[in-house]
Amino acid sequence: MKRVSEIIKNNLAQLFIGIALMGIAGMQSALAGEPKEFEGPKPDLKIESANHKFAEKYPLQYQSWVATSDSVEVISALEEDPRLVILWSGYAFSKDYNKPRGHFYAVTDVRSILRTGAPVDENSGPQPMACWTCKGPDVPRQIAELGEVGYFDAKWAKYGAEQVNSIGCADCHDTTSQDFKDGKAALRVARPHVLRALEVVGWKFDTLEKHGRRAAICANCHVEYYFSGKEKAVTFPWDKGIDVDSMEKYYDEHKFTDWTHALSKAPMLKAQHPDFETWSLGVHGKNGVTCIDCHMPKVQSKDGKVYTDHKIGNPFDNFEHTCKTCHEQSKETLQTRVKEHKKQIKDVMIRLEDQIVKAHFEAKAAWEAGATEAEMKEALTAIRHAQWRWDYSAAGHGGHMHAPDVILHVIGTGLDRAADARTKLAVILTKHGVQTPVQIPDISTKEKAQKAIGLDIAKEQAAKDEFLRTVVPQWEKQAREKGLLPIDAK
Ligand code: HEC
Ligand code: HEC
Ligand code: HEC
Ligand code: HEC
Repeated sequence: MKRVSEIIKNNLAQLFIGIALMGIAGMQSALAGEPKEFEGPKPDLKIESANHKFAEKYPLQYQSWVATSDSVEVISALEEDPRLVILWSGYAFSKDYNKPRGHFYAVTDVRSILRTGAPVDENSGPQPMACWTCKGPDVPRQIAELGEVGYFDAKWAKYGAEQVNSIGCADCHDTTSQDFKDGKAALRVARPHVLRALEVVGWKFDTLEKHGRRAAICANCHVEYYFSGKEKAVTFPWDKGIDVDSMEKYYDEHKFTDWTHALSKAPMLKAQHPDFETWSLGVHGKNGVTCIDCHMPKVQSKDGKVYTDHKIGNPFDNFEHTCKTCHEQSKETLQTRVKEHKKQIKDVMIRLEDQIVKAHFEAKAAWEAGATEAEMKEALTAIRHAQWRWDYSAAGHGGHMHAPDVILHVIGTGLDRAADARTKLAVILTKHGVQTPVQIPDISTKEKAQKAIGLDIAKEQAAKDEFLRTVVPQWEKQAREKGLLPIDAK
């Protein structure tokens, strides 16, 4: 290890204080993740969201940003692991869920995923506007134009013709500032709900130093959040802290549930992707090494110009400019270490999934045998907590790299809660004369698992294809006319 003392010197005390504060956020008077008041329109806040307008002035940054399109492959997580279909039964994630790929595809992917359905007009569902919120720079632009309520309180299809640029320049930069015109980074967080949440954990963006600001821009999206209130506004559950226990406590006290499980009737939570939270609890986060040090290093162009590589992807592809700037070990050594962590985590994660799948079917059998709500309550709460812990560890992408120790602990406590659930269910099943083990249908493939919970995917896919063929080209045509997309865009 070289440079550690240097890093610690460089990454100013503020980042450490920030991270330390996150742990004790609950001690602050609740500034509330749930806003007391939403922000109205801000006509003075100009946001240039059209990515293509920066191609000419910033060719190095622009071309490396376009290169996030290299990760072409769409990998279905449900096909890889059909247990997920059962775990999310009754929720749209059981229909379709893919692994993440490059930022370039965010808008394409949210349109094609079955979860967003096939709306035929601006008032048809199933999803709210909140589903665009981590997809691109047209989001902060529209929030500034419409105010938060104006933006959030509508169906997803209402502004399809406005939400057309994928995660880009204005998500991270103040694109209309003089600094940015002068070629400086001018980093900015322009989503009001993100600024509020960061403040709750002691990260006031305007007063953060450089390293804190860098990590904070990824917290725009790579975080745990939920849709709160009738406006379905994106809100971060950080008031009590950002670790798995504090967020669980927050949700329990708010009596929040994302959905009721179709088999077990448990009041469920869906974790999003708490990458920022996990990172901050891991060894790199604690040492002030930010997302940018690994995912967006400084590199040199052919003619010797130093610039920030905007191809956010796997840091091992850029080893000399990422890990190697601090570590002396070879790429093979470090990569093997990370692979081992991944394998160990995957192993216990699957065991936890198996336990929760069984618990859902056992609860279903208990209901069918006449169990009462009072009898079931504690078992269902244990299922809720076990699955929240599993999902936190599974949905946070890269957790095996960012904080393997934290993830293993989360899964360990998840196994404990799953054991609680199954012990309680065993008592209920015996009381109602149900023979154990409870039979579990064949869920060995995605198709079989979806059939087991009664999903008609062919019908959903046909409606989606029609939507992509008829509605989406209209959205793009309108966006080109408005200058949000280049005229020659397909
Ligand atoms: C996900 C966030 C993100 C996105 C999207 C993004 N940038 Fe950046 N950009 C950064 C970061 C981080 C830096 C480095 C900041 C620092 O050095 O403190 C940076 C630096 C820059 C700089 C300063 C010079 C340099 O290379 O360090 C320019 C200019 C720039 N970006 C242009 C763009 C353009 C143009 C786009 C859109 C095509 C874009 N950026 C998209 C995060 C982003
Ligand atoms: C505006 C929201 C947003 C911001 C800001 C953002 N991301 Fe993402 N990121 C996403 C979404 C959404 C995806 C998944 C896109 C898809 O699969 O279509 C993603 C995917 C990724 C991936 C997977 C890429 C791949 O090729 O598999 C990495 C790594 C990543 N982001 C890192 C970062 C880092 C680091 C930052 C901060 C510099 C950042 N992101 C900022 C929303 C965002
Ligand atoms: C010390 C380096 C390092 C830091 C710091 C770091 N990452 Fe990563 N990240 C990696 C590596 C390496 C991988 C890929 C792991 C692998 O190969 O299995 C990864 C994977 C990811 C992935 C999953 C990509 C995928 O396709 O599954 C996302 C998303 C991500 N990181 C986002 C972030 C965000 C956001 C931050 C900051 C909050 C961050 N990372 C901080 C090194 C880092
Ligand atoms: C900006 C500096 C920096 C960069 C870049 C960086 N690291 Fe580290 N890394 C550290 C520091 C600091 C520690 C903590 C050392 C300690 O506590 O002794 C660390 C610790 C580690 C550890 C040990 C973790 C543990 O739990 O003990 C691993 C493994 C590791 N880094 C892998 C990587 C990989 C892989 C990359 C590139 C994707 C990377 N690091 C990039 C600074 C960095």
